[in-house]
Amino acid sequence: MAPVDEDLITTLIVRLDLERKVRLLTGADFWSTPAEPSVGLRRMVLSDGPSGVRGESFDERTPSLSLPSSTALGATWDPAAARRYGSALGAEARRRGADVVLGPTINLHRSPFGGRHFESLSEDPLLTGELAAAYVAGLQSRGVAATPKHYVANDAETERFTVDNRVDERTLHELYLAAFEPVVTRAGAWALMSAYNAVNGPTMSENPLLAEPLTGEWGFDGLVVSDWGAVRTTEASANAEQHLVMPGPVGAWGGRLVAAVRDGRVAEATVDDKVRRLLRLAARVGALDGVGAPPVAAPAAEDGPTVARELAAAGSVLVRNTGELPWDAATLGTVAVLGHNAELARTQGGGSATVRPAAVVSPLEGLRAVLGGDRVRYRLGAQVAEGVQPFDPGRITNPVTGGPGLRAVFRDADGAELRAEDRLGASLIWMGSEIPEGADHVEISLRWDAPAGEHRIGAAAVGHLTLDAGGTTVLDTEGVLTGDEGPGAAIFEAPSVTAGVTTDGPVDLVLRFRPSGQEAGMALVAVTVGTETAVADPDAEITAAAALAGESDVAVVVVGTNDRIESEGFDRSTLALPGHQDALVRAVAAANPRTVVVVNSGSPVLLPWRDEVAAVLLGWFGGERFGEAVADVLLGAAEPGGRLPTTWPATGEERSVLSGVPADGVLRYDEGVHVGHRNWLRHGETPAYPFGHGLGYTTWTLDDATTGPWSPDGVEVTVTLTNTGTRTGRQVVQAYLSRRGSDVERPARWLAGWAVVDAAPGTTTVTVPVSRRAFRHRAGATWATEPGTWTLHLGFSVTDTPLQADVEVAAQG
Ligand code: BGC
Repeated sequence: MAPVDEDLITTLIVRLDLERKVRLLTGADFWSTPAEPSVGLRRMVLSDGPSGVRGESFDERTPSLSLPSSTALGATWDPAAARRYGSALGAEARRRGADVVLGPTINLHRSPFGGRHFESLSEDPLLTGELAAAYVAGLQSRGVAATPKHYVANDAETERFTVDNRVDERTLHELYLAAFEPVVTRAGAWALMSAYNAVNGPTMSENPLLAEPLTGEWGFDGLVVSDWGAVRTTEASANAEQHLVMPGPVGAWGGRLVAAVRDGRVAEATVDDKVRRLLRLAARVGALDGVGAPPVAAPAAEDGPTVARELAAAGSVLVRNTGELPWDAATLGTVAVLGHNAELARTQGGGSATVRPAAVVSPLEGLRAVLGGDRVRYRLGAQVAEGVQPFDPGRITNPVTGGPGLRAVFRDADGAELRAEDRLGASLIWMGSEIPEGADHVEISLRWDAPAGEHRIGAAAVGHLTLDAGGTTVLDTEGVLTGDEGPGAAIFEAPSVTAGVTTDGPVDLVLRFRPSGQEAGMALVAVTVGTETAVADPDAEITAAAALAGESDVAVVVVGTNDRIESEGFDRSTLALPGHQDALVRAVAAANPRTVVVVNSGSPVLLPWRDEVAAVLLGWFGGERFGEAVADVLLGAAEPGGRLPTTWPATGEERSVLSGVPADGVLRYDEGVHVGHRNWLRHGETPAYPFGHGLGYTTWTLDDATTGPWSPDGVEVTVTLTNTGTRTGRQVVQAYLSRRGSDVERPARWLAGWAVVDAAPGTTTVTVPVSRRAFRHRAGATWATEPGTWTLHLGFSVTDTPLQADVEVAAQG
C-alpha cells in the first residue's frame, strides 16, 4: 500500500492542542477510538479476533463468520491457508464496520495446560511467525489493520494480569519475540497489542521491550494498543512505547497525562509520536479525511462459510489410521454417532475470541446430511457440556411475533417497559450503552418446543432470577460466583441455576433477571437461558452407547472439552477429557472394532485408549462448518491436511510438559530455548504424537536430499517426494536443523523450514527453503552464526526424518 503522507499528519498534529491530543490516546468506549472532526478523523472500531470479527456487540442478529480455532490454522502449516484466513476476516471486518481486528494471537504453546492455547498457533516460533505473517498480510490486504497479540510471553492465563515471566534474553529473542518479528518486519502489521503480564520486571504496557526490539530494531511504525485494562500507570506507560489505552472512556492517562506533560514528566513530543501513530493507522484504514480511501484487494469470490469448511478439513490431523478411513459413503452401512460433542460441538474457544455465528453444523448434522438419517443413529454416551446451554434456536418461538427466537424486555423498577428486543438466540449479553438508562431487570419470554420428557431448565447468570414455566414459578433464586473466577466471569463462567420440569409439548417460559452488583446502574447484563444435561446413570448411558455401536457397522465417537475447562481466563489443571469419555471410548471400541474417534478440543488432551481404536482424527474447535468438514474428511471428500503444530503428550506428567503456574507471582522460563518438541527430544521422552505428525489417505517416500547454493535469504534443500499410493494427497516436508559439537547450547534439533505439497501419485521434486535465521543464535544484542558443518534432517515429523544432508556454513552469515 502507498506510504502514508507523513507531512499531512504533521500539519494535523500541529492543529491539535495538548488536551485534544491526549484525548485521542484513550478509547472513546469499549471498542472504539475517539473521533476528532477538526482534523478529519472519524472513530475507529476495534474488534476481537482472532478467529472471527465479533463487531461492537455480542448480538446474534448481526452474525459473524466463525473460522476454525487458531490451532486448526496452525495445523495446516500452510501460509496460503493463513493468508486466506486473514483475508476472509478482513472481508468480515469491512462488512461489520471494524477497522482493526484484534488478532492473530501469537503467543507460544509453551505448556499444553494453557487455557487459551486454542487461540494461538503453535509451540514453534518459526511456524507461528510464518503463519501469522501470512494472516496479517491477508487481513491487511482488505484495508483492515491486524493487531498481533499479546506482546510478549503471554503464554498462560494463571495470574495473567500480574505474573512476572522471567525469560533470559536469548530465549526471548529466539522464541517469544521471534514469533512476532515477521509480522512486523515482513507483514508490516499496522497495530500490535501489549500484554497484561510483566516480563523480567516491568509490566508489558511499560516494558522496554516495546522500544527494543519492537519500535527500534524492527522499525515498527504502527500503534501499540494496550490489552483491555492493562495500562495502570500514567507516566511509566506514557514514557514507554505504549500508544493507545483501551478500553475507554476512563483510563490511566486521561487528564493525568496532560498534567504529566505540563510538569515535564512526559515530553510533549512523546505524546505527538503516539498521535502520529494513531493518525497513521487512521490513514491506513481509511479513517482520515484527505488521504483517500485505502486501496483494497478485490473481495474474494469465495464465501466465508466455504473458507471455514475447507480450512477445518485442511487443519484436521489424522494421527492414527489402521486403514479404516476413509469411508466410502456409497457402500458404508449404519453409523453409530456417539458423544455429547457430536451433537453439541465446540466450534470456537471461550472468552474474548467468542463470536456469534449465524449457524453451526455439528458432526452429527454433517454426517446425517451426507449419509441420511436412517443410516446415522445418535446416542449421548457421556456428558461433557456442564451447566445451562442455550436453547436450540430452532426450538424457540417469540410469543409476541410468533417468529423464531425470544422477546427480551428491559424494565424499570416499577415494571414499566423501557425497551424490547426480538432476539434469535438464548445467550444474551448487553454492555454499557446497549442497556437503557434506568433499567432494573430484563424479562425474557419464549415458547420452548420441548421434547416430551423430563428436563432441567434454567439460566446461567450472576444475579437474581425467577423463571415461570407454563404459568408456574419454578425458580426464584440467585446465581452467585464463588469468587475464585477471573474478570469476565459473569460472562464466561456464570453459575447455572435450574429446575426440573416434565413436558409433553411446547411450554411458555418467562425469565426475569436482575444482575447483581450493579446498583449504580447496569453496565453488563449477561444471561443464558436453556437446558442442562443431566445423565442419571453414566454407566447405563455408556452401556447403551456401546450397544448401539455394536449393532452398527461403524462407530464415530466425538470426544472433547467443555467451556469450563478450556477457555480464556484460566489454565487447565488436567489434560484428561472431562466426564466419562475415556470409559465411553473404551466400551464402544470393545463393542465395535471399526471405531473412529474425532477429538473436539482446542488443544492437547490425553487419549489413553488411542491404540485401541481404528482411527483418531483431531478436529480442534472446527469453526461454524465443523460438522461438514468432519464428514468431508471421514468420507474422503477432503484430505485430512493437518500436521501437529504442537506435541501431544501421552500422560501430561512427562518432564517435557512445562508448568504455567507461577510461584510467588513469578513464572520462570528455566527451560530456556528447549520448548515443545525441543524439550521432548532433550529429555528423550516419547509423546502420544510428535510435533509435525499427521497422516493422509496416501503413502509417501522421500529421497535424494541436495542442498543448493546459498542466497541472501538462505539455502534451499531439494528432495524427491513420491506419492506411493493411489490418490492425490497432501504432505508437509519438514526440515529440522541440528549441530553437533557446538560451542553454544542448542536444542537437539529445531524446525528450520518446510514445504506444503499437494501431489498426485508419482514423483515430484520439492524445494524446502531454509532461512539464514535458522542457523543464527542470539548473542547479546546481535545475531551470530557459528561456522562449520550443520545437519539437516528431512522428513514427515520431528522424529520421522529418513533423510539427512550436511550444510557447510563458511563464516558469519
Ligand atoms: C484479551 C484480549 C482481547 C481483549 C478485548 C482481553 O481480556 O486478553 O485478547 O482482545 O480482552 O476483548
